[in-house]
Amino acid sequence: MTDQLKIKKSPDTLRSKRWLKNNDFRSFNHRSRMMQMGFSQEEWDGRPIIAIINTYAEINPCHHHFKYRVDDVKRGINQAGGLPIEIPAMSLFEAMVKPSALLYRNFLSMEVEELLRCYPIDGAILMGGCDKTTPALLLGATSLNIPSIFIPAGPMLTGRYQGKTLGSGTDAFKYWDDYRAGDCSACDLEKVAGGIGRSPGTCMTMGTASTMTAIVEAIGMSLPGASSIPAVDTNHSRMCSDAGRRIVEMVWEDLTPDKIQQRKAYENAIVVAMSMGCSTNAIIHLIAMARRAGCDIGLDDFERISREVPVIANIRPSGKEYLMEDFYYAGGILGLMNRLKPFLHLDQITVSGKTIGEIIEGGEVYNDDVIRPLDNPIYKEGALAVLKGNLAPNGSVIKASASSEKFLKHTGPALVFDDYPAYKAVMDSDDLEVTEDHILIVRNMGPKGGPGMPEWGMVPIPTKLVKQGVRDMLRISDARMSGTSYGACVLHVSPESYVGGPLAFVQTGDMVTVDVEARKIHLEISDEEMERRKAAWVQPPARFERGFGWMYSNHILQADEGCDFDFLQKGFGAPIGEPDI
Ligand code: FES
Ligand code: MG
Repeated sequence: MTDQLKIKKSPDTLRSKRWLKNNDFRSFNHRSRMMQMGFSQEEWDGRPIIAIINTYAEINPCHHHFKYRVDDVKRGINQAGGLPIEIPAMSLFEAMVKPSALLYRNFLSMEVEELLRCYPIDGAILMGGCDKTTPALLLGATSLNIPSIFIPAGPMLTGRYQGKTLGSGTDAFKYWDDYRAGDCSACDLEKVAGGIGRSPGTCMTMGTASTMTAIVEAIGMSLPGASSIPAVDTNHSRMCSDAGRRIVEMVWEDLTPDKIQQRKAYENAIVVAMSMGCSTNAIIHLIAMARRAGCDIGLDDFERISREVPVIANIRPSGKEYLMEDFYYAGGILGLMNRLKPFLHLDQITVSGKTIGEIIEGGEVYNDDVIRPLDNPIYKEGALAVLKGNLAPNGSVIKASASSEKFLKHTGPALVFDDYPAYKAVMDSDDLEVTEDHILIVRNMGPKGGPGMPEWGMVPIPTKLVKQGVRDMLRISDARMSGTSYGACVLHVSPESYVGGPLAFVQTGDMVTVDVEARKIHLEISDEEMERRKAAWVQPPARFERGFGWMYSNHILQADEGCDFDFLQKGFGAPIGEPDI
């Protein structure tokens, strides 16, 4: 908590006053409706009304504990003199939403922005954590720009199975491959499944959830240390009530997201993400979030920072051993950021009212193997590399830190499939002509073509090769992959094939070169041949004729632009005013 509030707001200048205090019929009616909910005038008069945007749903195990955590938040808000109002919002359970939770990220962001806009709200607590929920909540609150704190759900407990630790996603993929290879003696799949899911909370590998909650904290939008606390640790309850108390102070201080989310804050977030061997999804979300905040962050910023910052968080899948629970007890994000000091802008303000420099001053590391010193990293630089070339003129991404080294520079023949079902139909066939030197290309899985860029980019290795012991090969697509995935997968190829990007023109047997050190991806055909194929190309039919899918397909931006809707970007069209009636 801040020692001394820098008061900028008075009860008369609260946003909610416009709904409740005016001497007109509408305000009279609003007050009557507040009473209908059982509130007395003293409960709202002169007090900030705090919306708790809760993404709890019975179908989302990552947020199951939010049902109870919301009471901790309310307790904090009440203690600080605010009025808490819980408002549920769409819950996106990454592992179950088909075809892709990214399809709904912008939908949720619009829901959050408009909920906060249309009700008498002075500040917001944003409760999320499962992959897309985190950026969605931030995108919405940032666009409305009212004081907000993000509460991360926290990682679930470490998975356990027969004396081994299990990581969500990462070990599910691994044991499934063992099963496909016929090596079932050491693995009982159903026990593995139960062993992974031991508690509520987000995936406890360094997947998209852990990456995004760390990023939000590094930007300054969560309380110090919040993102590392395991979901079921009682520290998590205390963090929630702290956030409740603090958001009320933030309203009086008028500490809005635009004062926190500046370009330097986003650069800090990229530093932290790179040092954690982050999910490739982080790139898409960070670009979208930064642009909503008016900061022009692009792939070049990731490439520049990734070249400097080593991976020092030894967490799967980039790391070999540890999971988020180990990370928390090793010092968590504050310990990590303390080690990253040379790369960080320390003067950035956070929701706590303190600067990043002040917050991380006391950050300690208690286990040098989990959070490595800068001079003993698990990967020296470039966790994520941005590759460009005639196959991806606007960029593509590879998680070099989780790829087999031998594929980081590789030339091989392409084996091309027009979509995922086409590959799935033959992937188990013994007759498939494929070697581990082939480069598997699956296309039409991008933002428009997928649609929603499903996480199919870690294309399964053909079963024939798995049986031979092959566990990695080069794959190229315009899809994404789960942050818990691994392997030599070139993702996010932009422009995507569905809109006529060069990936649409590759043919089986073409030679393709990937060179991560040189940051290159190249289709070995002449420019004339490329033009000839382009002229003959026919766009696949549209997938949606109506509804949200239609709107999505018509307004989604490419991966290198963050996959935001064009009309949600800052500066699009005329400014939206506050409701005036
Ligand atoms: Fe929810 Fe992984 S599925 S965080
Ligand atoms: Mg995921």
